Amino acid sequence: PTPGWAIDADVVVVGSGVAGLTAALRCTAAGLRTVVVTKARLDEGSTRWAQGGIAAALGEGDTPEQHLDDTLVAGAGLCDERAVRALVTDGPDAVRRLIATGADFDRTADGEIALTREGGHHRRRIAHAGGDATGAEISRALVEAIRDRGVRFIEHALVLDLLTDAEGRTAGVTLHVMGEGQHDGVGAVHAPAVVLATGGMGQVFSATTNPGVSTADGVALALRAGAEVSDLEFVQFHPTVLFLGAGSEGQQPLVSEAVRGEGAHLVDADGVRFMLGQHELAELAPRDIVAKGIIRRMQERDAEHMYLDARHFGAEMWAERFPTILAACRSHGIDPVTEPIPVAPAAHYASGGVRTDLSGRTTVPGLYACGEVACTGVHGANRLASNSLLEGLVFAERIAEDVVASAPGRGPAVPVEHPAPVVLPLLDPGARRRIQRTMTLGAGVLRSAESLRTASRELEALHLPPAAPDDEAGDRKSAEPGVESWETTNLLTVARLLVAAADRREETRGCHWREDHPDRDDARWHRHLVVRLTPERT
Ligand code: SIN
Repeated sequence: PTPGWAIDADVVVVGSGVAGLTAALRCTAAGLRTVVVTKARLDEGSTRWAQGGIAAALGEGDTPEQHLDDTLVAGAGLCDERAVRALVTDGPDAVRRLIATGADFDRTADGEIALTREGGHHRRRIAHAGGDATGAEISRALVEAIRDRGVRFIEHALVLDLLTDAEGRTAGVTLHVMGEGQHDGVGAVHAPAVVLATGGMGQVFSATTNPGVSTADGVALALRAGAEVSDLEFVQFHPTVLFLGAGSEGQQPLVSEAVRGEGAHLVDADGVRFMLGQHELAELAPRDIVAKGIIRRMQERDAEHMYLDARHFGAEMWAERFPTILAACRSHGIDPVTEPIPVAPAAHYASGGVRTDLSGRTTVPGLYACGEVACTGVHGANRLASNSLLEGLVFAERIAEDVVASAPGRGPAVPVEHPAPVVLPLLDPGARRRIQRTMTLGAGVLRSAESLRTASRELEALHLPPAAPDDEAGDRKSAEPGVESWETTNLLTVARLLVAAADRREETRGCHWREDHPDRDDARWHRHLVVRLTPERT
């Protein structure tokens, strides 16, 4: 499709979670004409679903150095220490600035920020809001600030492709906007700086904690634009997601690690605490270790789930400290005050993504990435709990600084032309479930060469171009351009590369678990898998 409308800006921010809105607020404050575009409504991304909180060395006796140590251990040898240092050093002040922007965190009786623990943290350093509704509060505060400060935004705008100038520099994005109004249909925002903050890719799998909008759009766009993408094989599975029945699909309710941080126990059907003796931190071991502990016990007991037992919290603590989780459990007929919660791991977070430097710059000039869509190097092979909101916050500020510093030297964005999207045929939305099931079976929490190659064959069959205009293989017809067909196409683009990376990495490290290569292999694999596509290979 050729854009029917275009607007000009100094910077366009794609996405409206903590990363995107923080970047937009900082760029606006510096006087840049900023436009936020977001696929649904401003508050509909993953940020608002975050429960546990935001990690930072804010507590007495805690230091950025200790936060760094815990982050590096969780990352299983693949963190970029410089990026982690930036995260943990800038973190405490970034949280204080978020509070100054209007986010209201829970406080102790003395008025200090209340801090909890989560997996992999040796200290209480997780700030939270509304008990277990941290993301919702951050989202509320940032959306309010965006409205108060008059930042321009376009909702229901799915980003399609990056526009570039004759030298290959960023010149804006094309968008598909659904809705009534001035900007509808396919259009463009011209800008010499684009900040991708599109969130994650949980919808690549059947069951995930991610909302329906997390369809890997930013990574797919970056790949089509020729940017480098790294560490796609490191998908984190959250250990404790409310088990709603085998084969449950779509977004699943999270049961925050903070519940374990406050003393809940993981038990099997006989009430045995199976994490004891597996790690010095037991239920609060890094997330990959707990997820593996649960899966192993499920296999040993031929069970579909394990249990999280927090009956000892009592009704009052449940209602005050974890109101969101309490309500979610009760809405599914489980009362955590009187019974253990059935839990199982589900896809949660992409540690990899679009490769950036410490200022959030990708390998395409003028294109930045921030938050879950990015691979800054802070997570390595396994993200430490509650480092993701912090990463979005800290690196958004770093990006804004860089965008502002580069702005005076940049001319206005002049795209060479409005190219048609490079990925055709578009996939029929009906293929989405097939992709998700294939990925869950072949590239989920447990992987092997066999499972990955089966998945690869299935995905390649979907990717083949239609044999003829009236090809009967429904999924392979070029679908009508529309949000769902773009999303499905993006999912397939990223799923194929994720499977290829997971197949290539013949070891077990962090959240990448190969049954056929059960050990970490530093001699061969102490390195990253980086991919960059040329347009004809998308
Ligand atoms: C949680 O509350 O368990 C999620 C925290 C995170 O994913 O960082």
